[in-house]
Amino acid sequence: MKKKIGLLLVIVVALVLTFVPLGQTNTQSAQAADNSLEKIQKKGVLVMGTSPDYPPYEFQATVNGKSAIVGMDVYIGQQVAKDLGVKLKVKSMSFDSLLVALQTGKIDMIISGMNPTPARRKNVSFTKAYYQGGYDIVINKTDKNKYKNKDSFGGGTLGAQTGTTQYNAAKNQTKNTSVKGMTSQSDLILALQSHKIDGVAMEKPSAEAYVANNKQLAAIPAGFSMSSSATKSAIAFRKGSTSLVNKVNKTVDKIKKENLVKKEYLPKAGKYLKTNTVNTSMFHYWKAFLTGIEYTLIITVCSVFFGFIIGILLALARMAKGNIFKNLLRWISTAYVEFIRGTPMMVQVMFVYFGLGIFVNLPALTSGIIAISLNSGAYVAEYIRGGINSVNIGQTEAARSLGMSNGETMRYVVLPQALKNIWPSLGNEFITLIKDSSIVSIIGVTELIYQSNIVRSDTYRGVAPIVVIMVLYFILTFTASRILNHFERKMQHD
Ligand code: ARG
Repeated sequence: MKKKIGLLLVIVVALVLTFVPLGQTNTQSAQAADNSLEKIQKKGVLVMGTSPDYPPYEFQATVNGKSAIVGMDVYIGQQVAKDLGVKLKVKSMSFDSLLVALQTGKIDMIISGMNPTPARRKNVSFTKAYYQGGYDIVINKTDKNKYKNKDSFGGGTLGAQTGTTQYNAAKNQTKNTSVKGMTSQSDLILALQSHKIDGVAMEKPSAEAYVANNKQLAAIPAGFSMSSSATKSAIAFRKGSTSLVNKVNKTVDKIKKENLVKKEYLPKAGKYLKTNTVNTSMFHYWKAFLTGIEYTLIITVCSVFFGFIIGILLALARMAKGNIFKNLLRWISTAYVEFIRGTPMMVQVMFVYFGLGIFVNLPALTSGIIAISLNSGAYVAEYIRGGINSVNIGQTEAARSLGMSNGETMRYVVLPQALKNIWPSLGNEFITLIKDSSIVSIIGVTELIYQSNIVRSDTYRGVAPIVVIMVLYFILTFTASRILNHFERKMQHD
């Protein structure tokens, strides 16, 4: 036992030591030689990260029959890309993962109504501000006489998006008010409408957009006292990208000089706001849900496949003993299984996507499959080990006395029988993965949960998309378990 703990500690320390210093050198070298502008122009694409739950800044809308991200920030991004002579790619993620995504190179810039506060400036470089917002609180219209500003919510609950300036303001500048943070602005509005919270703090233009879209809502002034940088919006780049920031500042200057935000971008965004609620039937979104199913299945099938291979290797390694080399193998595999089972899959997914992202830039789908396969492998290994142990030792002895080698005995005699014994557990694992693969929605893989979030922010309907994916998940798992049962019965006949 002691040995195992020691080994675990060594592995953890080694992991920490490998990742921490590298993270630092990366930023230092970026500061020393700034070729940020050149790099983007060579690449030919500028990846913009944004959290599309903030109309009129950025939001989902149906454009030519397809769900797309629109809004003034997107139009600013398009102008920036145009002036740099590159293509724009818009990537959607939750507001609180934008800064990490920028620092780990998943995106090249953030335009997301983000305020250039001093705290953020420590980690990223901002352009000049392109817009000035100010703050409101959205409430239910029926409460209009009850609330005047942030000070009226004593005893009640104020909601705000996590990782935002308004969240901090709500926390620090209210008394006797509990503050509820959620990652998505659309969820907050939903919570407001179902009276889980009493108000949602957000930038004034966004408050006005939500109110314009929903007759049951009203907006009141927030009354936060904010530094001027906390009320403006600017574009963020990786720290030290001086040449890039300088160049983009020219675009910002032009946008301001020609008053493009008020004259062009906001009216254009406003057009989508009004058409936004036209078609809220869930059938209208069948394509989105279908894509969701497709990705959920891709992730599950790939992860089960690789997880199974990893599982067999781990199980064999775990059962090895004899010389030093074999013992080492056993220790490593034991430590691996313990470590994976002892940490949440969500953290593993983020680690593969953001952490390993420092070395290799893996797309979200690949990262998701890798993380879930690695995770599933640890569980499958345990099933397989149990299965192998469940095969009577007499089988091995008989095979060996027939002159089969160790490996052959495993391959032709033990593993096939073990597989039959653990088939139900493997089936369970498959069904669990169909459900648990939903975790990769946090890194932006377009599976079912992700699609339902898009439909929710597109339609402003909270519950219907949840019901739809619940039914879809059930159909998937139920079909899978029928199919697995069929094979189980067949195996029993052999
Ligand atoms: N202005 C706030 C901030 O910078 C919130 C911006 C939220 N943006 C969004 N796209 N949800 O912290």
